Amino acid sequence: MRLFFVCTGNVCRSPMAEALAQKHPGVEARSGGVGAAFGAPMSEGARRALAAAGLALPHHQSQEPSAEHLAWADWVLAMTQSHKEELVSRFPWARDWVLTLGEWAGSKEDVEDPIGSTDQVYAATMAHIDRLIEKGLASQGPGPRYGSAAGADHAGYLLKDRLLSQLPAPVLDVGTHDPSSVDYPIYAEAVAALVGQGRAGVGLLVCGTGIGMSIAANKLMGVRAAAVSDVSSAHLARAHNDANVICLGERLIGPVVAEDALREFLATAFEGGRHSRRLEEIRALEDASGHGP
Ligand code: RB5
Repeated sequence: MRLFFVCTGNVCRSPMAEALAQKHPGVEARSGGVGAAFGAPMSEGARRALAAAGLALPHHQSQEPSAEHLAWADWVLAMTQSHKEELVSRFPWARDWVLTLGEWAGSKEDVEDPIGSTDQVYAATMAHIDRLIEKGLASQGPGPRYGSAAGADHAGYLLKDRLLSQLPAPVLDVGTHDPSSVDYPIYAEAVAALVGQGRAGVGLLVCGTGIGMSIAANKLMGVRAAAVSDVSSAHLARAHNDANVICLGERLIGPVVAEDALREFLATAFEGGRHSRRLEEIRALEDASGHGP
């Protein structure tokens, strides 16, 4: 089970929770803060509280939660209701697996901030978090998973809505749902994170051309998004490129061609063989660029 803990600065409560959760076999844990500066170490109080319990998180660096973190986690566990509200306003598509730690454990209690308090307060906060994690792990199964994820901007939402019933269920529709102008990278990021992190099996993105969506989606790890214009390009995107996100342009192709292309995309298997080696080469490019200059 993957757990992502969230507090404000990612220096006290959420890293303590990360270290406590990792004690449990089969649990992977990470953490972030909705107001975190990047790269701060854990607070001394949190470090001492963990050390007293024989625990440590020596390489911790504070960070803000990203779309990929939210897609990765079975459950995103916020220390307070206000952290949860902030997360849901940034990542509305994740609302079904963002809870407070208290809710996840079956109660309403928030975990209050110990920052600047005594070692006793830190120890009590850590014991509170530990109790809630134990209770949650005893009662909760894996978080929701999706057959597919779909997204569009104002220039593509009509076609996206028309294609939803063709997609593998359950479908997570991240929007948009009306013609007000929106920025396509927001929807590309959501669908790409869901597919790239394995939470959704396949992705559909629609904008005016399919091009902006594919450029944006391909920035995320594990995503092979193809802008497709007909049945042949849909077939080859799967057979040769093992594409996991199909991008369509509502302003460029008609709805029947789009339906046929999507049907072909979903029905075609990756051929493997010589194409596998090329995908490995793409993965190596992804790894290399992830490290920056
Ligand atoms: C929006 O006007 C349009 O630029 C967008 O939908 C898409 O075509 C971008 O690639």
